[in-house]
Amino acid sequence: MERLRIVSGIRPTGPLHLGHYLGVLRNWVRLQQDYECFYFVADWHALTSEYKEPSIITDSTRSLVRTWLSVGIDPDKTVVFRQSDIKAHSELFLLLSMITPLTWLERNPTYKELRNELKEKDLGTFGFLGYPVLQAADIVMYHADKVPIGEDQLPHLELTREIARRFNFIYGEKILKEPKEILTQAPKVPGLDGRKMSKSYNNAILINETPESLKQKVMQMLTDVKRKTKRDPGEPRDCNLYPFHEYFTDEETRKEIASGCRNATMGCVECKKILIKNIEREFSPIWEKLSYYRSRDSLVDDVLRQGAEKASEIAEATMTRVRGVMHV
Ligand code: TRP
Repeated sequence: MERLRIVSGIRPTGPLHLGHYLGVLRNWVRLQQDYECFYFVADWHALTSEYKEPSIITDSTRSLVRTWLSVGIDPDKTVVFRQSDIKAHSELFLLLSMITPLTWLERNPTYKELRNELKEKDLGTFGFLGYPVLQAADIVMYHADKVPIGEDQLPHLELTREIARRFNFIYGEKILKEPKEILTQAPKVPGLDGRKMSKSYNNAILINETPESLKQKVMQMLTDVKRKTKRDPGEPRDCNLYPFHEYFTDEETRKEIASGCRNATMGCVECKKILIKNIEREFSPIWEKLSYYRSRDSLVDDVLRQGAEKASEIAEATMTRVRGVMHV
């Protein structure tokens, strides 16, 4: 039976953290079992906001692919590539831009929000306004059936469907497929300081920690403020650390921790030590692979080369049809 196809991308703008691991990557790994997956480094998308300091993109691209391979993305099953290696994405972006009404882009909520949020980045550019058109090109290029994304990306996927529909309508042929979303739940873990885990707040536990840095970060995490000492009872629901146990600790131990916290029989240090041990257990094989790939850039480059070959075959077939109906 033909497997349905999935396309998804991540922008290479810095190191990935536990939020990405729990929310995105574990999902990506799982989806490989049932779908034909295309995962790519969205380096042109990164440029829409990082165009003034683009040097971060090269390093982040390699480190992103290393991370994917280390957590279990399998390049023998899955097409792993870099957006800018497939120049057809830019051609399709151009051609789709011809048929995309400006009002669709101007009313895009992420456009309005991010422009306000990232005022220092000067996002009043044509490229940034066109971000969802490029994303649509990424997706329809490979006739994706489904796109795993977070809730924040839903407006972009809706735009992708609208663009595909309009294209097919104008040219009278069903060339571009309208994709559906696979909604990925954002993990419920806060950053070290209790705010949302984010690179820009500098409060993230990265995928790429060392045992020492992991320990240091977990030890500095805020717990329930009511627990000044071990003798003060606490409430796991008011603790920034406890949600991590939901992901890394087995149920029985979790119950012991919760009651130890409420009865003031287990201290925060002990609770943190359990978490450190459990995160370490899950991550040591990943860290080993990361260090393996870190000293073998050529393997990462090979994966990208091999992925680009497979991706460009499909991209060229799509472009032949698109150029045909658009007479270019
Ligand atoms: N916009 C996506 C994000 O910021 C990244 C992205 C670019 C993407 N092209 C895509 C995701 C195509 C899914 C499909 O997360």
